[in-house]
Amino acid sequence: MIAIGSDHGGINHKEYIKEFLKANGYEYKDFGTNSSESCDYPDIAKPVCDAILSGECEKGILICGTGIGMSIAANKVKGIRAAHVTDTFSSRMAMEHNNAHIICIGERITGPDLAIEIVKSYLSATHLGGRHAKRVEKAMALEN
Ligand code: RB5
Repeated sequence: MIAIGSDHGGINHKEYIKEFLKANGYEYKDFGTNSSESCDYPDIAKPVCDAILSGECEKGILICGTGIGMSIAANKVKGIRAAHVTDTFSSRMAMEHNNAHIICIGERITGPDLAIEIVKSYLSATHLGGRHAKRVEKAMALEN
């Protein structure tokens, strides 16, 4: 199950990405927002992170205007690794090297079709483990 959420600044991409997920057989759970009314990205990031930490969802996609606010908020949730990505190489590496739980995309930065390619490369990648897993563990141990 993939957790997806956005603030008002990412709602169009959220709908577009949901269409892609549906058409490609991915199950997802939408954590809002569901209107164009202004809202606060941490209020969406938190339940998405909680769904991952509880095991309800395996991966997450968060979208805001730039992707930055969502990545800051998600990375403040203990145990979560969120990667702010603007290209397909980074989104693949976010999984292969960093085993990121979540990718964060900016609707005002990244066009809709590139956003789909970014999602595709993240979801189709596999964590490589080994030395990368050790580095991920070290990074997580920095958490206070
Ligand atoms: C909302 O205007 C905007 O600040 C938000 O979507 C996001 O870009 C924050 O990082």
